Amino acid sequence: MTKDSDLDTELRGVVKSQSPLNCARQTKILEHNMLITNKIQKRMDARLNAIAGHLRPSAVIADVGCDHGYLSLFVLTSNIANKVVCIDISPKCLQKTKDLLTRTNKVDGAEFLVSDGLKDVTQHVDQVIIAGMGGRNICDILENAPKHLLSAYFVLQPMNNITYVRRTLNQLGMCITHDEIVFDKNKYYHIICAQRGKQVLTLNQIRCGAVVEDYRSADYQRWLQLKIAKVSNILEHINSDSLRYIEMTEYLQSLKKCIF
Ligand SMILES: C[S@@+](CC[C@H](N)C(=O)[O-])C[C@H]1O[C@@H](n2cnc3c(N)ncnc32)[C@H](O)[C@@H]1O
Repeated sequence: MTKDSDLDTELRGVVKSQSPLNCARQTKILEHNMLITNKIQKRMDARLNAIAGHLRPSAVIADVGCDHGYLSLFVLTSNIANKVVCIDISPKCLQKTKDLLTRTNKVDGAEFLVSDGLKDVTQHVDQVIIAGMGGRNICDILENAPKHLLSAYFVLQPMNNITYVRRTLNQLGMCITHDEIVFDKNKYYHIICAQRGKQVLTLNQIRCGAVVEDYRSADYQRWLQLKIAKVSNILEHINSDSLRYIEMTEYLQSLKKCIF
Protein backbone atom coordinates (compact mmCIF):
# COMPACT_ATOMS: atom_id res chain seq x y z
CA MET A 1 0.00 0.00 0.00
CA THR A 2 1.13 3.55 -0.61
CA LYS A 3 2.88 4.94 2.43
CA ASP A 4 5.06 7.77 1.24
CA SER A 5 5.88 10.69 3.46
CA ASP A 6 7.91 12.20 0.59
CA LEU A 7 4.63 12.97 -1.17
CA ASP A 8 3.56 15.30 1.65
CA THR A 9 6.87 17.16 1.55
CA GLU A 10 6.67 17.51 -2.23
CA LEU A 11 3.08 18.67 -2.13
CA ARG A 12 3.93 21.30 0.49
CA GLY A 13 6.63 22.58 -1.90
CA VAL A 14 4.13 22.76 -4.74
CA VAL A 15 1.61 24.65 -2.61
CA LYS A 16 4.21 27.20 -1.51
CA SER A 17 5.36 27.75 -5.08
CA GLN A 18 1.99 29.19 -6.16
CA SER A 19 1.89 31.92 -3.51
CA PRO A 20 2.86 35.11 -5.53
CA LEU A 21 -0.35 37.05 -6.03
CA ASN A 22 0.03 38.57 -9.47
CA CYS A 23 -1.85 38.59 -12.77
CA ALA A 24 -0.54 35.12 -13.66
CA ARG A 25 -2.22 33.67 -10.56
CA GLN A 26 -4.89 31.73 -12.49
CA THR A 27 -2.26 30.08 -14.68
CA LYS A 28 -0.20 29.25 -11.63
CA ILE A 29 -3.21 27.69 -9.92
CA LEU A 30 -3.93 25.59 -13.01
CA GLU A 31 -0.32 24.50 -13.24
CA HIS A 32 -0.31 23.76 -9.54
CA ASN A 33 -3.44 21.59 -9.83
CA MET A 34 -1.99 19.70 -12.79
CA LEU A 35 1.28 19.16 -10.98
CA ILE A 36 -0.50 17.83 -7.91
CA THR A 37 -2.73 15.57 -10.02
CA ASN A 38 0.35 14.17 -11.78
CA LYS A 39 2.18 13.66 -8.51
CA ILE A 40 -0.76 11.90 -6.90
CA GLN A 41 -1.29 9.69 -9.93
CA LYS A 42 2.38 8.72 -9.84
CA ARG A 43 2.33 7.98 -6.11
CA MET A 44 -0.96 6.10 -6.17
CA ASP A 45 0.02 2.47 -6.54
CA ALA A 46 -1.64 0.04 -8.98
CA ARG A 47 -4.23 -0.94 -6.35
CA LEU A 48 -5.31 2.64 -5.60
CA ASN A 49 -5.27 3.55 -9.30
CA ALA A 50 -7.49 0.59 -10.09
CA ILE A 51 -9.95 1.64 -7.37
CA ALA A 52 -9.90 5.24 -8.63
CA GLY A 53 -10.46 3.99 -12.18
CA HIS A 54 -13.88 2.65 -11.19
CA LEU A 55 -15.20 5.95 -9.88
CA ARG A 56 -17.82 7.72 -11.98
CA PRO A 57 -18.37 11.46 -12.28
CA SER A 58 -20.90 12.41 -9.61
CA ALA A 59 -21.74 14.99 -6.96
CA VAL A 60 -20.74 13.29 -3.71
CA ILE A 61 -18.37 10.41 -2.98
CA ALA A 62 -17.81 8.90 0.47
CA ASP A 63 -14.36 7.46 1.22
CA VAL A 64 -14.89 5.07 4.13
CA GLY A 65 -11.66 4.19 5.93
CA CYS A 66 -9.94 7.14 4.26
CA ASP A 67 -6.76 6.91 6.41
CA HIS A 68 -3.83 8.38 4.39
CA GLY A 69 -6.33 10.30 2.27
CA TYR A 70 -4.93 9.58 -1.20
CA LEU A 71 -8.26 8.38 -2.57
CA SER A 72 -10.09 11.42 -1.18
CA LEU A 73 -7.42 13.67 -2.64
CA PHE A 74 -7.71 11.90 -5.99
CA VAL A 75 -11.47 12.51 -6.01
CA LEU A 76 -10.99 16.24 -5.51
CA THR A 77 -7.99 16.77 -7.77
CA SER A 78 -9.49 14.81 -10.64
CA ASN A 79 -12.81 16.68 -10.20
CA ILE A 80 -14.65 13.37 -10.46
CA ALA A 81 -16.93 14.67 -7.70
CA ASN A 82 -17.63 18.09 -6.22
CA LYS A 83 -17.48 16.80 -2.71
CA VAL A 84 -15.89 13.96 -0.78
CA VAL A 85 -17.10 12.79 2.61
CA CYS A 86 -14.00 11.45 4.37
CA ILE A 87 -14.90 8.85 6.97
CA ASP A 88 -12.79 6.89 9.41
CA ILE A 89 -13.54 5.10 12.65
CA SER A 90 -10.23 6.37 13.99
CA PRO A 91 -9.93 10.13 14.67
CA LYS A 92 -6.15 9.84 14.19
CA CYS A 93 -6.54 8.29 10.72
CA LEU A 94 -9.16 10.87 9.77
CA GLN A 95 -6.74 13.61 10.81
CA LYS A 96 -4.19 12.23 8.29
CA THR A 97 -6.67 12.84 5.47
CA LYS A 98 -7.55 16.27 6.86
CA ASP A 99 -3.86 17.23 6.99
CA LEU A 100 -3.23 16.04 3.43
CA LEU A 101 -6.25 17.90 2.02
CA THR A 102 -5.34 21.04 3.96
CA ARG A 103 -1.76 21.01 2.68
CA THR A 104 -2.96 20.53 -0.89
CA ASN A 105 -5.61 23.27 -0.72
CA LYS A 106 -8.46 20.80 -1.22
CA VAL A 107 -10.02 20.90 2.20
CA ASP A 108 -12.97 23.03 1.02
CA GLY A 109 -14.30 20.14 -1.03
CA ALA A 110 -14.28 17.77 1.91
CA GLU A 111 -16.35 16.87 4.94
CA PHE A 112 -14.84 14.87 7.77
CA LEU A 113 -16.68 12.35 9.84
CA VAL A 114 -15.57 9.98 12.58
CA SER A 115 -17.96 7.10 12.08
CA ASP A 116 -18.18 3.35 12.24
CA GLY A 117 -18.71 2.81 8.53
CA LEU A 118 -21.69 4.66 7.11
CA LYS A 119 -23.75 4.61 10.32
CA ASP A 120 -23.57 8.38 10.91
CA VAL A 121 -23.96 9.49 7.30
CA THR A 122 -27.28 11.32 6.97
CA GLN A 123 -26.76 13.05 3.64
CA HIS A 124 -27.15 11.75 0.09
CA VAL A 125 -24.06 10.06 -1.34
CA ASP A 126 -23.72 8.90 -4.97
CA GLN A 127 -20.73 6.61 -4.59
CA VAL A 128 -19.01 4.88 -1.71
CA ILE A 129 -15.41 3.65 -1.63
CA ILE A 130 -14.57 1.08 1.04
CA ALA A 131 -11.01 -0.09 0.46
CA GLY A 132 -8.19 -1.80 2.29
CA MET A 133 -10.34 -3.49 4.95
CA GLY A 134 -11.21 -7.08 5.73
CA GLY A 135 -14.16 -8.53 3.83
CA ARG A 136 -16.20 -9.15 6.98
CA ASN A 137 -15.67 -5.58 8.15
CA ILE A 138 -16.85 -4.31 4.75
CA CYS A 139 -19.94 -6.53 4.98
CA ASP A 140 -20.70 -5.23 8.50
CA ILE A 141 -20.48 -1.69 7.13
CA LEU A 142 -22.86 -2.55 4.27
CA GLU A 143 -25.33 -4.36 6.53
CA ASN A 144 -25.41 -1.51 9.05
CA ALA A 145 -25.57 1.29 6.48
CA PRO A 146 -28.63 3.56 6.52
CA LYS A 147 -31.01 2.17 3.89
CA HIS A 148 -30.95 5.32 1.72
CA LEU A 149 -27.23 4.77 1.07
CA LEU A 150 -27.73 1.36 -0.50
CA SER A 151 -28.78 3.09 -3.72
CA ALA A 152 -25.20 4.37 -4.10
CA TYR A 153 -22.58 2.84 -6.39
CA PHE A 154 -20.05 0.92 -4.27
CA VAL A 155 -16.38 0.44 -5.08
CA LEU A 156 -15.08 -2.17 -2.64
CA GLN A 157 -11.58 -3.50 -2.17
CA PRO A 158 -11.74 -6.27 0.44
CA MET A 159 -8.41 -7.67 1.66
CA ASN A 160 -9.87 -11.13 2.33
CA ASN A 161 -13.13 -13.17 2.57
CA ILE A 162 -14.06 -12.32 -1.01
CA THR A 163 -16.60 -15.14 -1.30
CA TYR A 164 -18.35 -13.83 1.81
CA VAL A 165 -18.46 -10.32 0.30
CA ARG A 166 -20.08 -11.58 -2.93
CA ARG A 167 -22.65 -13.59 -0.97
CA THR A 168 -23.50 -10.63 1.29
CA LEU A 169 -23.89 -8.26 -1.67
CA ASN A 170 -26.20 -10.80 -3.28
CA GLN A 171 -28.27 -11.09 -0.08
CA LEU A 172 -28.52 -7.29 0.18
CA GLY A 173 -30.06 -7.12 -3.30
CA MET A 174 -26.96 -5.68 -4.93
CA CYS A 175 -25.73 -6.46 -8.40
CA ILE A 176 -21.98 -6.86 -8.91
CA THR A 177 -20.94 -4.96 -12.05
CA HIS A 178 -17.16 -5.47 -11.87
CA ASP A 179 -15.19 -8.13 -10.07
CA GLU A 180 -11.56 -7.84 -10.97
CA ILE A 181 -8.13 -8.74 -9.66
CA VAL A 182 -5.19 -6.36 -9.64
CA PHE A 183 -1.59 -7.35 -9.01
CA ASP A 184 0.40 -4.82 -7.02
CA LYS A 185 3.66 -5.19 -5.11
CA ASN A 186 3.64 -8.98 -5.10
CA LYS A 187 0.01 -9.27 -3.99
CA TYR A 188 -3.32 -9.86 -5.68
CA TYR A 189 -6.17 -7.51 -4.75
CA HIS A 190 -9.86 -7.96 -5.47
CA ILE A 191 -11.93 -4.98 -6.52
CA ILE A 192 -15.69 -5.38 -6.53
CA CYS A 193 -18.13 -2.74 -7.78
CA ALA A 194 -21.81 -3.09 -6.97
CA GLN A 195 -25.08 -1.24 -7.18
CA ARG A 196 -28.67 -2.00 -6.31
CA GLY A 197 -30.12 -4.58 -8.69
CA LYS A 198 -31.14 -8.18 -9.15
CA GLN A 199 -28.48 -10.73 -9.93
CA VAL A 200 -28.52 -14.49 -9.72
CA LEU A 201 -25.02 -15.79 -9.11
CA THR A 202 -23.99 -19.39 -9.62
CA LEU A 203 -21.90 -21.08 -6.94
CA ASN A 204 -18.97 -20.78 -9.32
CA GLN A 205 -19.45 -17.02 -9.57
CA ILE A 206 -19.73 -16.67 -5.78
CA ARG A 207 -16.49 -18.62 -5.38
CA CYS A 208 -14.40 -17.27 -8.24
CA GLY A 209 -15.83 -13.99 -9.50
CA ALA A 210 -19.28 -12.63 -10.29
CA VAL A 211 -18.43 -11.10 -13.67
CA VAL A 212 -17.32 -13.72 -16.17
CA GLU A 213 -15.81 -11.14 -18.61
CA ASP A 214 -13.39 -10.09 -15.86
CA TYR A 215 -11.91 -13.62 -15.83
CA ARG A 216 -10.09 -12.75 -19.05
CA SER A 217 -7.58 -10.33 -17.56
CA ALA A 218 -3.95 -11.44 -17.32
CA ASP A 219 -3.88 -10.72 -13.55
CA TYR A 220 -7.03 -12.79 -13.02
CA GLN A 221 -5.65 -15.74 -15.00
CA ARG A 222 -2.33 -15.58 -13.09
CA TRP A 223 -4.23 -15.48 -9.76
CA LEU A 224 -6.22 -18.53 -10.90
CA GLN A 225 -3.06 -20.53 -11.70
CA LEU A 226 -1.61 -19.62 -8.31
CA LYS A 227 -4.83 -20.57 -6.49
CA ILE A 228 -5.08 -23.85 -8.42
CA ALA A 229 -1.52 -24.74 -7.43
CA LYS A 230 -2.21 -23.86 -3.77
CA VAL A 231 -5.46 -25.84 -3.56
CA SER A 232 -3.89 -28.84 -5.36
CA ASN A 233 -1.08 -28.78 -2.82
CA ILE A 234 -3.55 -28.67 0.10
CA LEU A 235 -5.45 -31.62 -1.37
CA GLU A 236 -2.27 -33.68 -1.43
CA HIS A 237 -1.87 -33.18 2.31
CA ILE A 238 -5.36 -33.77 3.71
CA ASN A 239 -7.34 -36.88 4.41
CA SER A 240 -9.37 -37.80 1.34
CA ASP A 241 -12.26 -38.94 3.59
CA SER A 242 -12.65 -35.51 5.22
CA LEU A 243 -15.32 -32.89 4.51
CA ARG A 244 -12.54 -30.38 3.84
CA TYR A 245 -11.25 -32.62 1.06
CA ILE A 246 -14.67 -32.61 -0.62
CA GLU A 247 -14.94 -28.81 -0.26
CA MET A 248 -11.45 -28.22 -1.61
CA THR A 249 -12.04 -30.58 -4.54
CA GLU A 250 -15.20 -28.65 -5.45
CA TYR A 251 -13.34 -25.36 -5.13
CA LEU A 252 -10.57 -26.66 -7.39
CA GLN A 253 -13.15 -27.66 -10.00
CA SER A 254 -14.69 -24.15 -9.82
CA LEU A 255 -11.28 -22.54 -10.30
CA LYS A 256 -10.46 -24.75 -13.29
CA LYS A 257 -13.72 -23.78 -14.98
CA CYS A 258 -12.54 -20.14 -15.07
CA ILE A 259 -9.37 -20.77 -17.08
CA PHE A 260 -9.55 -19.20 -20.52
C1 LIG B 1 -5.61 -0.06 5.80
S1 LIG B 1 -6.49 1.43 5.90
C2 LIG B 1 -7.07 1.61 4.23
C3 LIG B 1 -6.86 3.00 3.71
C4 LIG B 1 -7.35 3.22 2.29
N1 LIG B 1 -8.78 3.12 2.21
C5 LIG B 1 -6.68 2.27 1.34
O1 LIG B 1 -7.36 1.42 0.76
O2 LIG B 1 -5.46 2.37 1.15
C6 LIG B 1 -7.98 0.97 6.73
C7 LIG B 1 -8.68 2.17 7.37
O3 LIG B 1 -10.02 1.79 7.64
C8 LIG B 1 -10.39 2.32 8.89
N2 LIG B 1 -11.53 1.53 9.37
C9 LIG B 1 -11.53 0.26 9.80
N3 LIG B 1 -12.78 -0.13 10.15
C10 LIG B 1 -13.59 0.93 9.92
C11 LIG B 1 -14.97 1.17 10.07
N4 LIG B 1 -15.79 0.23 10.53
N5 LIG B 1 -15.47 2.38 9.74
C12 LIG B 1 -14.65 3.34 9.26
N6 LIG B 1 -13.32 3.19 9.11
C13 LIG B 1 -12.79 1.99 9.42
C14 LIG B 1 -9.11 2.22 9.71
O4 LIG B 1 -9.15 3.09 10.81
C15 LIG B 1 -8.06 2.58 8.68
O5 LIG B 1 -7.82 3.96 8.66
